Amino acid sequence: MKSLNMEKRWIFPLVISSFVCFFLVVTSFNMGLITSLHTFNSIFSIFPTHVKINQTNPYFAESKINQAPAPPAAPPVPRFAYLISGSKGDLEKLWRTLQALYHPRNYYVVHLDLESPTQERLELASRVEKDPIFAQVGNVHMIAKANMVTYRGPTMVANTLHACAILLKKYTDWDWFINLSASDYPLVTQDDLIYTFSDLKREFNFIEHTSRLGWKEGQRAMPLIVDPGLYKTTKSDIFWASPKRALPTSFKLFTGSAWMILSRAFVEYCIWGWDNLPRTLLMYYTNFVSSPEGYFQTVVCNAPEFATTVINHDMHYISWDYPPRQHPHTLNINDTAKMIGSDAAFARKFKQDDPVLDKIDEELLHRSNGSFTPGGWCTGKPRCSKVGNLTKLKPGPGAKRLRRLIGKLVLSAKFSQHQCN
Ligand SMILES: *[C@@H]1O[C@H](CO)[C@@H](O)[C@H](O)[C@H]1NC(C)=O
Ligand SMILES: *[C@@H]1O[C@H](CO)[C@@H](O)[C@H](O)[C@H]1NC(C)=O
Ligand SMILES: *[C@@H]1O[C@H](CO)[C@@H](O)[C@H](O)[C@H]1NC(C)=O
Ligand SMILES: *[C@@H]1O[C@H](CO)[C@@H](O)[C@H](O)[C@H]1NC(C)=O
Ligand SMILES: *[C@@H]1O[C@H](CO)[C@@H](O)[C@H](O)[C@H]1NC(C)=O
Repeated sequence: MKSLNMEKRWIFPLVISSFVCFFLVVTSFNMGLITSLHTFNSIFSIFPTHVKINQTNPYFAESKINQAPAPPAAPPVPRFAYLISGSKGDLEKLWRTLQALYHPRNYYVVHLDLESPTQERLELASRVEKDPIFAQVGNVHMIAKANMVTYRGPTMVANTLHACAILLKKYTDWDWFINLSASDYPLVTQDDLIYTFSDLKREFNFIEHTSRLGWKEGQRAMPLIVDPGLYKTTKSDIFWASPKRALPTSFKLFTGSAWMILSRAFVEYCIWGWDNLPRTLLMYYTNFVSSPEGYFQTVVCNAPEFATTVINHDMHYISWDYPPRQHPHTLNINDTAKMIGSDAAFARKFKQDDPVLDKIDEELLHRSNGSFTPGGWCTGKPRCSKVGNLTKLKPGPGAKRLRRLIGKLVLSAKFSQHQCN
């Protein structure tokens, strides 16, 4: 009798504690099914009922993520991300190009390669730091860890990809990447460029290209070169190795201009490397003469998802001598009419402070010496010494010219016939 009583006294707490245990197990199981954030919230939440009511929300979020993500609505006013690079003695040219190109909505990476003396690079860094507008807006960056860049070598492409990666990491909201050198100069204002590109699909890539390699087949694609800039501290030219290699069969080679405007989507594709093609081709191009004239062309045309986004133009006016030499003809005052007549956004190449640059400043950009190219954003006295409304654009005749060129390229019925042929 007594032992039976004892048992009964124990049964009650046992049942209670098993019940509690069971409840806890079930609850934690339930929580495990909810996303971790909600588990976390519910553990610390004072009002667990709120969590229960909202339990279904995380599932909705997840199922939405699992579906193809809807592309974010394109903002009406695009942003450009620029790389402007130079070498020894290019400081003044680079600074002038930067001032002519500046707009507070855009992003700028400037680079003076390792061949330029430390003094020159320090001077650029200090100018970027001291400029009151750059300091206020904070959209101009100098690559402090300068790269060794060999003319014609793969280090040139590596430098461009480096700037792309910096711009991707720092900013999430630019639309196009533009690669320029200190010897380039704009023929339209940034307001013209931004205004004209507002109407364009953000996926477009402006890459001049062709698969007809011609003489480049034997002189560019088959020789093997090594760029000492990849592993030596002093600069020397590329050297040639033998024997030659065969033409590739697993992808098709394309070649074209080393100047381009790349969409953000394509830059991400090249940098992030979730598809192996950009990486494989980068390795292939390591031993290729003048890889900047082929790398992006070959990547874009061998990636079916991007081949339909390419517009066969580099947006530059470049004048080649006939027959073409290694360097293009240096533009002077006598080229003004042809340059403007091309409707292009940029031109190259120019000598430092050539009179034709003053003419471009005066007639096309309305830029005064030492100041920025005026635009809708400019306020203050002197002009453009303060940042006003960033989305206000004042497109001028340059926008008309650019629209004419892009219209010809994009709207022409033959548009897709010029893609990757
Ligand atoms: C769930 O929570 C969100 C905010 O976190 C709230 O907007 C929504 O109304 C809640 N849903 C319900 C059913 O209470
Ligand atoms: C990028 O710009 C530089 C100018 O410094 C140029 O020489 C190079 O070939 C360009 N293109 C690529 C694909 O790197
Ligand atoms: C431009 O053309 C004129 C006349 O043909 C010539 O005299 C002059 O030297 C040229 N200027 C330059 C910078 O080449
Ligand atoms: C432009 O300004 C710089 C100094 O700010 C001066 O050295 C140069 O002579 C000026 N050029 C012209 C054409 O006025
Ligand atoms: C800035 O400019 C845009 C375009 O002109 C205009 O729609 C907007 O209202 C302006 N914003 C301010 C704060 O003035």
